[in-house]
Amino acid sequence: MPRHDRDEPVPRQPQPPRAAAHRDRAVGHREGAAGAYARDAGGRDVAGRGRGEARGRGAIRRTVPADGSRLGRADHRAPRGHPRRRGRRGGGGAVRFDGRVAVVTGAAAGFGLAVSTRLTAEGAKVVMVDRAAEQLEKAAAGLAGALPVVADVSVESEVDGYVAKAVEAHGKIDLFFNNAGIEGRMAPMTELAVEDFDRVWAVNARGVFMGLRAVLKVMKQHKSGAIVNTASMAAIRGAATFSPYVAAKHAVAGLTRCAALEGAPFGIRVNAVAPGHIDTRMARDLTAQINPDDPDGVFERTSASVPLGRYGTAEEVANLAVWLLSEEASYVSGATHLIDGALNA
Ligand SMILES: NC(=O)c1ccc[n+]([C@@H]2O[C@H](COP(=O)([O-])OP(=O)(O)OC[C@H]3O[C@@H](n4cnc5c(N)ncnc54)[C@H](O)[C@@H]3O)[C@@H](O)[C@H]2O)c1
Repeated sequence: MPRHDRDEPVPRQPQPPRAAAHRDRAVGHREGAAGAYARDAGGRDVAGRGRGEARGRGAIRRTVPADGSRLGRADHRAPRGHPRRRGRRGGGGAVRFDGRVAVVTGAAAGFGLAVSTRLTAEGAKVVMVDRAAEQLEKAAAGLAGALPVVADVSVESEVDGYVAKAVEAHGKIDLFFNNAGIEGRMAPMTELAVEDFDRVWAVNARGVFMGLRAVLKVMKQHKSGAIVNTASMAAIRGAATFSPYVAAKHAVAGLTRCAALEGAPFGIRVNAVAPGHIDTRMARDLTAQINPDDPDGVFERTSASVPLGRYGTAEEVANLAVWLLSEEASYVSGATHLIDGALNA
């Protein structure tokens, strides 16, 4: 398998001085700039070449500011009774998504599971869709009232099927997190087969389109709804070795705009989240594709390339997605929202 240290899934801009401070503490000057995901403004690769010793995750922790503040870090230690643990209750005692029906794709892991967990905690009934049957069963078993539906979002009949099951079970769909996606194979276009492109496109673009089409039909009848598609920072920039993924995520941004315009007269809002580097299975697979001999080194350099000094978490993406699905975002529609630790600032 070819090595692609010199290329990157999503190249980044030159860094501001503060980011350099993080970088120096985390990986030292010898590693160069942003790890294997970087290239300079002239388009040249400035990635580390895997020379550095593997340092594991411990080094990432050192990128937290010296004063110990939790800069940009999710607070996973919310006390008992905190809204994040018991669902958000307004003054009247209502849970934010009480009585709402949500459909989440890619729900067995990563962002989909994090959003399903938050929506359930805040009162929604969640229809959890994934093609990984066993993992989905386990995930849904942990969430009160969740309905697992095994489906492949790239198959038209299965997309129409999961929407039909949601309507059959609950009579409506209020919220849709159209999220399932795959990373595909990283390689220059000249080394890709057309099948590599088709595979990513089928899930990440066609799957998103078919989900929007089926759910919009239901939401239009009820004249309300909120949808969040999962794009990526790959929806706003290119990458030398990630063309199928970048093309599909650009498509998600376009579909988001079109669906927002189509849905607006029906009171339906449609947005997309565009995450940067977020620590999930997918991100770990990409580090291994970039340098199978030193995925931890890639992870470290990538962390150091982010101005906030680390990968984000699925819970942090869920915070944004769930807000976009909530009434608090009632005037927000048609936009693709970056969540990337200032990487694209
Ligand atoms: N992790 C990141 O850094 C990152 C950054 C930007 C965007 N994204 C996007 O976020 C979304 C979720 O990614 P993640 O990081 O949570 O990945 P993940 O691999 O942890 O989870 C993806 C889930 O989607 C499911 N899935 C994949 N293909 C499917 C299909 N055809 N039908 C049904 N289910 C399917 C998988 O089984 C898995 O449970 C994807 O669209 C991905 O492209 C991820």
